[in-house]
Amino acid sequence: MSMIILVGGEKGGSGKSCLAQNLAVYITQKFEANVLMVDCDPQRTTSDWIQARNNDPSLTPINCIQLYGKIRNDLLSLDERFDYVVVDCGGQDNLAMRAAMSVATYVVIPLRPKRRDLKTLPHMEDMLSTCKMVNPKMVATIVMTQCPALPTQFKRILEAKEVVESYNLRALNSVTFNRNIYDDSEESGSSVIEIEPDGKAADEIRAIADELFAIPPENSHEFI
Ligand SMILES: Nc1ncnc2c1ncn2[C@@H]1O[C@H](COP(=O)(O)OP(=O)(O)OP(=O)(O)O)[C@@H](O)[C@H]1O
Ligand SMILES: [Mg+2]
Repeated sequence: MSMIILVGGEKGGSGKSCLAQNLAVYITQKFEANVLMVDCDPQRTTSDWIQARNNDPSLTPINCIQLYGKIRNDLLSLDERFDYVVVDCGGQDNLAMRAAMSVATYVVIPLRPKRRDLKTLPHMEDMLSTCKMVNPKMVATIVMTQCPALPTQFKRILEAKEVVESYNLRALNSVTFNRNIYDDSEESGSSVIEIEPDGKAADEIRAIADELFAIPPENSHEFI
């Protein structure tokens, strides 16, 4: 079974590239899969990460290409050649994001539990519900990222999830907390799973992926 996974959203710096990269490594390892990353960001964050990665012979290589704009047909034909296609798409390329939403099985939108990130929800809800009409199998989820680790701040995460659900969108229970290892692992083209397989960040990525893939791709009416 091959599938397209879009890590998207309009908010800059929410952790899209970071999550896309870590999910790509997780899928490569866990499913022994042939993964392609598609970088839709002209700043080439993920392409640069892949370049660093593929220069290090100790890391399993991952393929990557850059695509912009009307990428629907490209994604469909790439989906036939790879087991998984992971698309990293930010707000600069709205056309590419909508195109990817029209073919993706899973759409993951990272947001920090902050007002400025949550303010993008009405527009994301609008885009997702439009795309769901042409792509009813799509499973869309919000993932809270860079969450404050202090126990006194825990309420903020729960409140942010409530805001997400008030837009009839699904928020995963699994989150990422604010940890330097995410930033540090990127530098070397690596993933938190590879740098510290038994660490908390690696647990977070595995939990997010496992929770995500446990949601069956089907026309569910509970959420968008
Ligand atoms: N859970 C986390 N804890 C700490 N830092 C994180 C976490 N997730 C991401 N980061 C860091 O936050 C910064 C922004 O993340 P990233 O580049 O993935 O965001 P983005 O949404 O792709 O941004 P852009 O909109 O510019 O494409 C990076 O330095 C990344 O390492
Ligand atoms: Mg990015």
